[in-house]
Amino acid sequence: MVHDAGVVSLRVAHPDDYPILAAMRYDFRAAMDEPDEDRDVFEARMVSWLEEHLRASHPGVWKAWLAFEDRFGEGEPIGMAFLHLVDKIPNPVPEPEQLGYITSVYVRPDHRGGGVGAALLDAALDECRARGLDTIVLWPSARSRSLYERRGFRSPGMVMELPLVDHPGRSRP
Ligand SMILES: CC(C)(COP(=O)(O)OP(=O)(O)OC[C@H]1O[C@@H](n2cnc3c(N)ncnc32)[C@H](O)[C@@H]1OP(=O)(O)O)[C@@H](O)C(=O)NCCC(=O)NCCS
Repeated sequence: MVHDAGVVSLRVAHPDDYPILAAMRYDFRAAMDEPDEDRDVFEARMVSWLEEHLRASHPGVWKAWLAFEDRFGEGEPIGMAFLHLVDKIPNPVPEPEQLGYITSVYVRPDHRGGGVGAALLDAALDECRARGLDTIVLWPSARSRSLYERRGFRSPGMVMELPLVDHPGRSRP
């Protein structure tokens, strides 16, 4: 899939992309909190996780997109987004049986503010709509709430949350 946001392009991530996804994941989280794992160790662990979750034993359950700085997907990767499909228990009434969890929406700092994050989010939302999901959930950072609110995300009283730990990856409004 190619999706234009100015001069960038998006496509679904494939196995050759796992090292860059792992590197961006480290950059993303290390900017929010002090890592307690070396970059090399983390990236190797993350690549293994991607091999298991995006490719082999969980087909169709996780999906990731990459953004590139050029129109053809051949330039430098500058952003990513992940979607996790969460099964609900089957029910006998006309109600969708999967949720979407959008996570790790990230754009490199020098490419922010130009619509790349919104384009990545739109790719994930298009997939959710095409699959007829019930609801999409995510945990925004404080600064990114407006990005999601522009796409219709709200904080309703419908969802109950019990955080068991506190960390900078979970922001409060
Ligand atoms: C959130 C993020 C993916 C948005 O990418 P982007 O390409 O800058 O987004 P767009 O240009 O499409 O939209 C701009 C919106 O992004 C958000 N944003 C911009 N800079 C941001 C930053 N440094 N940190 C978090 N969100 C930011 C804001 O909601 C902004 O809207 P505003 O102009 O009303 O303030 C990107 O800023 C980022 O990687 N931030 C750090 C990681 C993060 O917070 N991810 C979201 C939690 S999963």
